[in-house]
Amino acid sequence: MVAQSTKRVVLFASGSGSNVENIVHYFQERRDVTIAMVLTNKRDAKVLDRCNRLNISALYFNKTAFSKSHGVVDILKGLKPDLIVLAGFLLKIPENLLHQFPDKIINIHPALLPKYGGKGMYGKHVHAAVKANQEGETGITIHYVNEQYDEGAIIHQAKTTLLATDSVDTIAEKVHQLEFAHFPKIIDQLLQQP
Ligand code: GAR
Repeated sequence: MVAQSTKRVVLFASGSGSNVENIVHYFQERRDVTIAMVLTNKRDAKVLDRCNRLNISALYFNKTAFSKSHGVVDILKGLKPDLIVLAGFLLKIPENLLHQFPDKIINIHPALLPKYGGKGMYGKHVHAAVKANQEGETGITIHYVNEQYDEGAIIHQAKTTLLATDSVDTIAEKVHQLEFAHFPKIIDQLLQQP
């Protein structure tokens, strides 16, 4: 019998890691998909506690390893990822990493790009800007990562309606619910592509 090949996913996260946890749960019974490792640039990120609890390998790296040397690239080469997923990761991906893994790095952004993207637009900052502009809807964008913040080719978007009574926190909650529903499925679809 030919052994089924396992697709390997590496996740990057900078903060709480609720998307990481949701992705881990989605794939936990799947023998054809492995979450190989979670990498973080924040030594005290809550995602590290989650990884401990979930029995997922996790690694903190510093700025030198990420953007001033090949440290993170070498770790990734060893992990042989089929897909690298930025799940709440807030640093710009350096060019050497992009070139090493062309078309294999995707990001989730908590708004409907091209609106509310770019440097400084992350997490609550996005939702505060959406609220300030009295938007009637917001959403999520899953896209490939390129040299510019939030400008890579869009893979998938999903929308949610906003009410005038929504606060920044309730907008964040609505967006998280969209992320939980869509992100693992899109990762799954990308892994199935030949
Ligand atoms: C998510 O909403 C994600 O879309 C956003 O950070 C949050 C992380 O939440 N990413 C960005 O803003 C990237 N520009 P989590 O740590 O609970 O998964």
